[in-house]
Amino acid sequence: MTLIGGDPGIGKSTLTLQTVASVAGTLTTLYVSGEESAAQVAARAARLGLELGQITMLAETCLERIMGTITALRPQLVVIDSIQTLYSEAFTSAPGSVVQVRECAAELTRAAKQTGTATLLVGHVTKEGAIAGPRVLEHLVDTVIYFEGEPGSNLRIIRALKNRFGAANEIGVFAMLEDGLRGVTNPSALFLARQSEPASGNIVFAAIEGSRPLLVQVQALVDRTGGNPRRVCTGFDGQRLAMLLAVMNRHMGCQLGGFDVFVNVVGGIRISEPAADLAIVSAIWSSLSGTLVPNNVVAFGEVGLGGEIRPVVGSALRVGEAQKLGFSRVVGPSVNRAARARADDDMLVSISHVSALAEQLHPTQ
Ligand SMILES: Nc1ncnc2c1ncn2[C@@H]1O[C@H](COP(=O)(O)OP(=O)(O)O)[C@@H](O)[C@H]1O
Ligand SMILES: [Mg+2]
Repeated sequence: MTLIGGDPGIGKSTLTLQTVASVAGTLTTLYVSGEESAAQVAARAARLGLELGQITMLAETCLERIMGTITALRPQLVVIDSIQTLYSEAFTSAPGSVVQVRECAAELTRAAKQTGTATLLVGHVTKEGAIAGPRVLEHLVDTVIYFEGEPGSNLRIIRALKNRFGAANEIGVFAMLEDGLRGVTNPSALFLARQSEPASGNIVFAAIEGSRPLLVQVQALVDRTGGNPRRVCTGFDGQRLAMLLAVMNRHMGCQLGGFDVFVNVVGGIRISEPAADLAIVSAIWSSLSGTLVPNNVVAFGEVGLGGEIRPVVGSALRVGEAQKLGFSRVVGPSVNRAARARADDDMLVSISHVSALAEQLHPTQ
């Protein structure tokens, strides 16, 4: 039982339709559309160039009738698009209410487990209101996948939040194109969009998303404040930023009390691992001091309250990705042998304390 959540228009129907088409030859499939007519689904399939083959299409919102079709057809894969459009005759509340969403999902789950039918539920993320969002179903299903993307960007990230039968925290990176979602084979190159000229406040962070390395650009802007100093983060935790600023004040002599600090992770991705600390500190230091970090530098590492740089998991993957994308300097904690094996001779610059950071980011020739 898999739940696919996301904002309206993000591409959930596109993803499920492409998925169904890719297994159309091998699995008997029932596609239930509660939002669109069969003709609209067919039109989308035509636009995406999909061959839907033997798929059974049902435009229906009544749970009892859907269950009847499932019982009669015995499909191996069922798609419900979306759970919020379904209603059960056993309840009087409106489709989309918490009761209807929960009860319909529970009934589908019971049937799925009994018959071994793989089921994909599509759920719209909603603002608080009459329509229940996918969160009310998270405990019920086996796998929860969220679809994320920035408005105005065709980049889509699919993130597995929960997975009972496999790895969680994996991401998939896709581009939404005219003919549907395409897997992005080299996400680092996409998130980087490296400028040819280095700019102050910019540095590249070697992240790990799920089990994959991902290079992302981190930016900071430190500017004299007009009133109360503002600390604004996009894609990074604000509490963590406050801590890093205190560490910079105490251990690097960076007095930021009179400055606004803005931090941005480019490309609309959210960074939550402590390994980002050193890159964030580097970007802030670079903007504050007006010093350019050369654009061949990558940073990673956790920063402790004492200003110490702590080792993080996945150093070999991070170093390997930096090497692969042509970076020639990795500033971070001391790394394990596997990471050293991946790097060129003088690529790795280990530092143990933030006080040594400035010198290593901008070595005096
Ligand atoms: N004719 C089109 N050409 C290109 N992209 C389109 C077209 N129609 C829809 N789209 C894209 O598909 C998106 C809708 O995807 P959809 O799978 O219906 O989202 P969801 O099911 O999550 O609401 C739109 O936001 C748009 O980006
Ligand atoms: Mg849809």
